[in-house]
This record gives sequence, structure tokens and C-alpha cells, in this order.
Amino acid sequence: EKGGYPHFMIKEIFDQPRVLRDCMRGRVNKEVKEILLSAVIDHKDKLLNAKRFILTACGTSWHAALIGKQMLESIAKIPVEVEYASEFRYRDPVITDQDVVFAISQSGETADTLAAIELAKSRGAYIYGICNAIGSSISRASDTGTYIHVGPEIGVASTKAFTGQVAVLAMLTLCLAKEKGTITDERYKYLVDQLASVPDMIEKILKTSGGIEKIAPTFTYARNFIYLGRGFNYPVALEGALKLKEISYIHAEGYPAAEMKHGPIALVDEEMPVVFIAPHNSLYEKVLSNIQEVKARKGRILSIVSDGDKDVTAFSDYIIEVPHVDPIFEPLLTVVPLQLISYYIAVAKGREVDQPRNLAKSVTVE
Ligand code: F6R
Repeated sequence: EKGGYPHFMIKEIFDQPRVLRDCMRGRVNKEVKEILLSAVIDHKDKLLNAKRFILTACGTSWHAALIGKQMLESIAKIPVEVEYASEFRYRDPVITDQDVVFAISQSGETADTLAAIELAKSRGAYIYGICNAIGSSISRASDTGTYIHVGPEIGVASTKAFTGQVAVLAMLTLCLAKEKGTITDERYKYLVDQLASVPDMIEKILKTSGGIEKIAPTFTYARNFIYLGRGFNYPVALEGALKLKEISYIHAEGYPAAEMKHGPIALVDEEMPVVFIAPHNSLYEKVLSNIQEVKARKGRILSIVSDGDKDVTAFSDYIIEVPHVDPIFEPLLTVVPLQLISYYIAVAKGREVDQPRNLAKSVTVE
């Protein structure tokens, strides 16, 4: 049940530290700093010899795939393509037996994602499922896979499944990088340790939910929102915008922050809320200058920043702090305040948070 929370969505947001520990249990060994995924052990040759990975999914799971691509390419040096399942299945893609196609799906029942892997399989690709629902159609249709093990997700807006998917993609990346020798021992151990600490870090963010709840009502007037991030936080901007759209019915767009000046900045005026995801990483200065551009046009700026931030904070109307973590794991932290802000805005607007209009939990028709 809802465990004392008013909605499943907020329960599931608060469940994240615990379920991510479940997701990593038996896989991430914090003592010896090692990650073992049975799918990688059992299907090592197939995975290591692949010429290319294709990650296919829909919606929030597609956003997790975008993060997976950046992790796999930067750490494991594997070329990765990300495909909307609904597009992939109908565009006669080039697929060979040298490809591994990953289907990412919370429900494991999404019709387009299932059809995409059936197509890929018929052309000889090896299929790897990343699902939550045990025994679901996609997990059964896959050659191998890794469950995210975050427990049933009831709220229509996906929250803990997203962080679970990103955590599995992170574990997969580190396992493959270790096997391929694309990572030093020292960095591998450091990243294993960082990943193992993510649940504690999310717990810290959740403690600030009261502050987020307070600022939410000041945004209920808005008809539009812009979400901006770069690098690993660009997919987080897309996910933040999707969360807001689906449960509050406020129109929102996510963009890579630097794309703003190629069009969307025309929308900015003193009424436009602009959410920046701006933790301390190598792109910080770049994002800071994007923030200054929005400030000069009087946008209302809400920034997600690293603990102790000063420069972005100085230009922001509101900030939410997250702990410092290696940039590859930032999405696991920065998405949490965005889940909370959409939840509290939707509640302040009196929306049906767990059952938004026009949406179904699993999309079993195309
Ligand atoms: C958004 C949301 C949807 C799903 C999408 C894919 O909050 O829940 O965008 O992510 O329908 O669903 P699964 O992961 O079950 O394939």
C-alpha cells in the first residue's frame, strides 16, 4: 500500500534509497569494490565482441537509455545508438548479428519495445532486457538481461524505475569497462564506491523535500516551463520536463542548455520558469553562462546545484542542492529534486497525481 503517503508517486520517490540498495544487492560489493552482473559473466563473449549496442525504449525508459549511451561510450568505449522503439521498428534499420539490442522497459509489456526486439531478433541481433516486471513479455523475449529489482511501480509517472534503470546501466558499464580494460583499476574502484554511496546521497536530497514543497505553489501559475542541462544532465532535463507535463499538465520542454540560443530563448520573459541542472562538473562554467543569458531576459530561474555552490546560486531565484558525486552518476541525484518539484506542483494544482488523464501505466497497444 501507500505506506502512509498520500500518493504512490511520492512513496515511490521516497522508496528510491531502499530500492536502489535492493537493485545493487548481490551485484555491487562495497567491501572489495567490485561489481558482478550475472548476464555479463554468462554472456561475456557476446557482449565484448559486439560491434555496437542499440538501446531501445519509450518515454522515461528512453531517457534512461540516453544516459546509458553516455556512460557506455565514455567509460566502456562501446559505440551506442539510442532509438525510440516506435521509430526503430518501422524504419527498416540496419541490424546484424554483431549487434546487441537492449530493451529498457519498466513494465516489460510496452508494445513498441517488444516489437522492436522481435524485429532485431529476426535479423540476428542478441537481445538484452532491462526490465522491472519479473517474467514480463520483454524479459521472456530477451536472450539475457538484468532485472532492476525496484519493486512494483504503481504511480503512472515513473520515478524509482528510472533511477533503477540508470543504476543497472551504470553497473553494466562498469562491468564491461573492467572486462574490456578501458578503465584503470583505481578509477573502477572509485566509481564502484561512488555508485554504492548513491542511495545515501539520495536520502540526503529527500531530507530537503520540505523546502521543495514550499516553492512549488509559486510555480502553479505557469503555462510553460523550460528545463536545461548539458552532458549527463541533458537527459535529466528531458525527464524533468516529462514528469511535469504528465502529472501537472503544464507544458514543459527539455533542451540541451546550449541549444537555447538556437530558438527557445525567444520564449523567455519574466513569467517563464527555467530549470537549470547545474552541478559542479566540467560543464559548470558553460551552464553558468547559459544561466546568465536567461537571467538577462528576466526568466525565473530554479537551479539544481552541488552542495555549497556559489556562482549559479547567485544568479538563481531558487536553488536545490545535491551532494557531490562523480559526474557519470549525477543523473541519479539531479533527477530526484525534479521528481519532487513536479509532484508538489501537481498536488498544489489539485491534479490526480497517480492517475493522470489520458495515460496508462503500461502501453500495450501501439
Ligand atoms: C513516464 C512513463 C512513460 C513510460 C513509457 C515506457 O513517467 O511512465 O513514459 O516510461 O511508457 O514504459 P515502460 O518502461 O514500461 O516500457
